[in-house]
Amino acid sequence: MVDPCVRHEGAAVNDGDGALAATAQGRQFGPLGTALVIIPTYNEAENIKTIVGRVRGAVPEAHVLIADDNSPDGTGKLADELAAADGQVHVLHRKGKEGLGAAYLAGFRWGLERDYGVLIEMDADGSHQPEELPRLLTALKGADLVLGSRWVPGGRVVNWPKSREFLSRGGSTYSRLMLDVPIRDVTGGFRAFRRETLEGLGLGEVASQGYCFQVDLARRAVKAGYHVVEVPITFVERELGDSKMSRDIVVEALWRVTSWGVGDRIGRFTGKDKRA
Ligand code: GDD
Ligand code: MN
Repeated sequence: MVDPCVRHEGAAVNDGDGALAATAQGRQFGPLGTALVIIPTYNEAENIKTIVGRVRGAVPEAHVLIADDNSPDGTGKLADELAAADGQVHVLHRKGKEGLGAAYLAGFRWGLERDYGVLIEMDADGSHQPEELPRLLTALKGADLVLGSRWVPGGRVVNWPKSREFLSRGGSTYSRLMLDVPIRDVTGGFRAFRRETLEGLGLGEVASQGYCFQVDLARRAVKAGYHVVEVPITFVERELGDSKMSRDIVVEALWRVTSWGVGDRIGRFTGKDKRA
């Protein structure tokens, strides 16, 4: 039976064809276990203290892992201070800037080596509101993966320039059509995974470095048949610090999504893709 909270949350499940909802029929979902909120950082000195405090307040039982790429602005040192003062805050120091995808892969590995049952992705800059975490976790009780979504009914974006909204909506639409994934917000970075879901995604083969990492994981989850639920969120553009979005990140996303889409089509044509 589909968990009622999932149905409620989600105008959600892909307000398209309901295909994902059907995959949950008859499924039993186990208890969630302790959550680890992974926060990748690059030059977030102005934001790190506030965001960690908000997470600890919103979900006091969860742990936090800051995955810092040796930020020149000293974010890593501030993270160490937070960890020294709080046994539920941890820091993963990485040697240099290698992109969001690499930071999350290292963070997931760190969490999976330990006893966490849920791994959460969240930005450091306040765009993802920790106060919405309990809703994501409630939805995860009846799902394998929960995506915080700007582009389902009830979801929205505050203070984004039109150009950025156009890029994000366009990126999601292109990915959805190209990859045949019934998800409205494929590029978002506010997500909750069950441990077992991450273990089944083949993380060892993920090569995506930038924000297309998010598209990569979503498409892998759909292909693997996981029950993916979109929960509406309010994304608030950062007030402090700078976005790391760049032309290179857009170019990487465009060529990877296009090559996955073309690969899928060739696979279906030659009969290698079981969905054909
Ligand atoms: N460790 C590490 N290394 N962290 C990084 C790197 C990196 O190379 N690049 C970005 N980050 C961190 C930032 O410090 C921040 O905490 C988070 O990743 C998101 O980066 P932003 O630069 O604030 O992203 P955005 O607001 O432009 O983009 C948002 O929208 C994208 C498209 O929908 C985010 O929600 C992305 O996750 C999302 O893919
Ligand atoms: Mn941001």
